[in-house]
Amino acid sequence: MATPTVPLHPVHLPKDWSPASWRTRPALQMPTYPDPIALETALGELRALPPLVTSWEIIALKQHLADAQEGKRFLLQGGDCAESFAECSSDVISNRLKVLLQMSLVLVHGLRVPVVRVGRFAGQYAKPRSTDDETRNGVTLPSYRGDIINAPEFTEEDRVPDPRRMIKAHARSAMTMNFVRALIDGGFADLHHPEYWDLRWVGHSSLADEYHRMVASIGDAVRFMETLSGAQVHNLNRVDFYTSHEALLLPYEEAQTRQVPRQWGWFNLSTHFPWIGMRTAALEGAHVEYFRGIRNPIAVKVGPSVAPDALMRLVDALNPEDEPGRLTLIHRMGAANIASKLPALLDVVRREGRRVLWICDPMHGNTESTANGFKTRRFTNIRSELEQAFELHAAAGTRLGGVHLELTGEDVTECLGGARELTERDLERAYRSTVDPRLNYEQALEIAMLIVRKQAQLMKPVQA
Ligand code: PEP
Ligand code: CO
Repeated sequence: MATPTVPLHPVHLPKDWSPASWRTRPALQMPTYPDPIALETALGELRALPPLVTSWEIIALKQHLADAQEGKRFLLQGGDCAESFAECSSDVISNRLKVLLQMSLVLVHGLRVPVVRVGRFAGQYAKPRSTDDETRNGVTLPSYRGDIINAPEFTEEDRVPDPRRMIKAHARSAMTMNFVRALIDGGFADLHHPEYWDLRWVGHSSLADEYHRMVASIGDAVRFMETLSGAQVHNLNRVDFYTSHEALLLPYEEAQTRQVPRQWGWFNLSTHFPWIGMRTAALEGAHVEYFRGIRNPIAVKVGPSVAPDALMRLVDALNPEDEPGRLTLIHRMGAANIASKLPALLDVVRREGRRVLWICDPMHGNTESTANGFKTRRFTNIRSELEQAFELHAAAGTRLGGVHLELTGEDVTECLGGARELTERDLERAYRSTVDPRLNYEQALEIAMLIVRKQAQLMKPVQA
């Protein structure tokens, strides 16, 4: 991972802030640990463990995000809704990396800008829930809040929050990180060759010809560069990969917040790029308090209930000095709401001249339940929200600088539709998520191709 080329904008340590100052504010979505001594012991252990990422990687990513704000890069952020301890395995990790790399190649080639690759992995273990408890057949237990807190099985023992799980999550994150770094350093070369991609789905799409042309031209470009240079493309521009997760469980994040030699301020060293979820983004809340003091680039989910003035107060709190690369706003409105909700937010940020990176999460505003009891999302809605996002930004004179997706490299059946037109019946075949439905390998690649297609349409000069 590269070092930054340009010195970053100087900013100041926020006043009255410490890694623990969030504790004076209302903290939503926190588990209640039954044993405070066990909690303190686990946090003490976490404070002594080595970090998962470094401050120079974090600073390099901030510079890349600053470039993305200016349209010089595009951000691809994606991965599971929640990682699970059980799926911390070679296949799951390498397939997820593979689909993200293949998508990024489609985007680099089609958008003609470098892509910043950020995984939702190596720490995406804590989940916000709509209720604290869950009742089944008259039995009420605490809700499942992600593997870093409790287990999904519906027994009292599994659902009690266990602080040792934080140590396990840290270890699993380190293993994931280690494997990702090794795969990338080793080249993971075949991914750059479209002939190794699984593209059988393309034939099922009404856009098959267009997709075939896109893939063929990526292959030609890769071969052309290799012929010119005599080296393999993966060695030419070694890929950078960064990690992100929702920094929801504040005691864990606090224990990973450190000062480092020759740098001022505090870094969250459990991930490069933490984000605040929609349910914990209150201005006066504990999460905003924690995030305002760390030097990482940060993101906030912005849902349909956020008003323009509330958004500006959040921007002021999180990036008071308008530092480049510091703040990403992830809008997640839903296909039905984006046209009515987003333009006012784009206008106010543009009018006030604030520097943010806008990206679109077309997943979380489009979740629904099927008659057969599955939580799902329709590919048509995901696509529609994304396409509307590109159009609304173009109309507002702002820039959609990236996307945030829930996806997996596995052949799951969790989202409906896509080229193979998955139906409600298909959901029964391979539904594996314990939380939100993810795009599968084919659907994720298709989304990358649709982004390129949409961007090309918007760039086309209007015929007189
Ligand atoms: C998520 O990204 O998994 C999530 C819970 O999103 P949001 O906060 O936007 O609902
Ligand atoms: Co989710």
